[in-house]
Amino acid sequence: MATSTSNGQSSSPNKSSSETRSDYSAIGKTLHWLVAALIGLQYVLIELAHIAEQTNATVKQLAIIANHKSIGITILVIAIIRLVYRLNSTPPTLPESMPSWQKLASNTSHFLLYFCLFALPVSGWLMSSANAYSVSWFNLIALPDLISANKTMAETLATMHLRLSDTLIILAAVHVIAAIKHHVVDKDNVLTRMSSKGTISIGLITLLAGVLIWGKVVSISSTQDETLVTTQTLAETLESPASEQTEDTQAKISNLPLWNIDYSNSYIDFTGEQAGAPFTGRWNKWEGKLQFDPAALDQSVFDVSIEIGSVGSNDEERDSTILSPDFFNVIEFPIARFYANDFVSIDPKSPDFGDNEFIAKGTLSMKGISQACELKFKITNTEKGKELQGIASLNRHQWNIGVGDWADPTWVGSDVLVNVKVLF
Ligand code: HEM
Repeated sequence: MATSTSNGQSSSPNKSSSETRSDYSAIGKTLHWLVAALIGLQYVLIELAHIAEQTNATVKQLAIIANHKSIGITILVIAIIRLVYRLNSTPPTLPESMPSWQKLASNTSHFLLYFCLFALPVSGWLMSSANAYSVSWFNLIALPDLISANKTMAETLATMHLRLSDTLIILAAVHVIAAIKHHVVDKDNVLTRMSSKGTISIGLITLLAGVLIWGKVVSISSTQDETLVTTQTLAETLESPASEQTEDTQAKISNLPLWNIDYSNSYIDFTGEQAGAPFTGRWNKWEGKLQFDPAALDQSVFDVSIEIGSVGSNDEERDSTILSPDFFNVIEFPIARFYANDFVSIDPKSPDFGDNEFIAKGTLSMKGISQACELKFKITNTEKGKELQGIASLNRHQWNIGVGDWADPTWVGSDVLVNVKVLF
């Protein structure tokens, strides 16, 4: 049976007795000061992110926001632990001398603080998902998206996140002022029963964590993006002989019929990794001269040109970074080209592949660099026609994609998986 405490909260006899009526337990104090310190760190990180943004330090900004997200998720986990602990333990009662309106104000502000502890991280996580920026926890665990990409929703969630963070600041300020008033004016034990020597250590540990994060971030210098212009068209590229684009490959004239590609049902997609979380994108403009016959591999040719500027990754800022000089440098190198004339049939007994599956061994030219590249693909019959499905695994550094600060795979993963579907 539940009994009522003097501060209006109910307590159950089943609850842990680790917290006495006069003092919080060590666990209660640790969780309280840890969350308080981490929340303080969050606001500092956001200020640093704003400075990085103003100085165009894109990689720094990405690194700071990634840490902000990881710490936010940590706060969410601690908040869950805290709530479970709080529901299973009886907090010390408020001093008898406190007027009932103050007890009500105290209980209400504690409820609102708990609400913010959940609502802020969840709104941040939702905002990141809606912005097509998946969240990872310190690059160690990639978290699932809570909702699909939606820019309007992302803007609403950003406003909500900002309003909640303002509310939390106000609540925290009231909370601190009230605690000081209890200690200095009322001279009761409200502040001291939540404090111990250990709380100073928690503050110091969190400060150290902040310094370590900042130390890692300041070692990143500034990267600036430039205005983007596409100067060469796909048609011009495909008209030029493949040998001009692919230094290592001899262009081959094939007598096989050209595939009649249904571009509206075909795609070239890619999956990369940013701050430990995957993101996907698509090249919307490309043209292929595909001549392939499983019975005439020596006659087969793939010649695909991709308009780099047509990239879309569900986020304009990321797209402009992809096109910037540090990445694809679209101004100087507007077209990427894959040329292959060496095909092998994959052994049907191979555990990964079956019948009708092949490897196109060719050359991928991007950013003025030509490197060997293999596309594994299979061809199947579908209701709409024949369909090629292929994958290529690339290491972006081979083409100097992402140089300078971006070369660090911590913020942008080295491996990129290209997924191709061609309906013909
Ligand atoms: C208690 C935890 C959190 C606090 C106190 C907090 C606080 C803040 C604050 C004060 C801002 C700046 C708002 C503005 O000036 O526009 C912000 C922005 C942001 N937060 Fe949080 N946040 C928390 C958790 C999270 C989490 C868990 C995520 C994602 C997983 C997240 C993602 C973001 C993002 C993406 C921004 C925008 C940064 C930018 O682009 O400038 N936050 N947060």
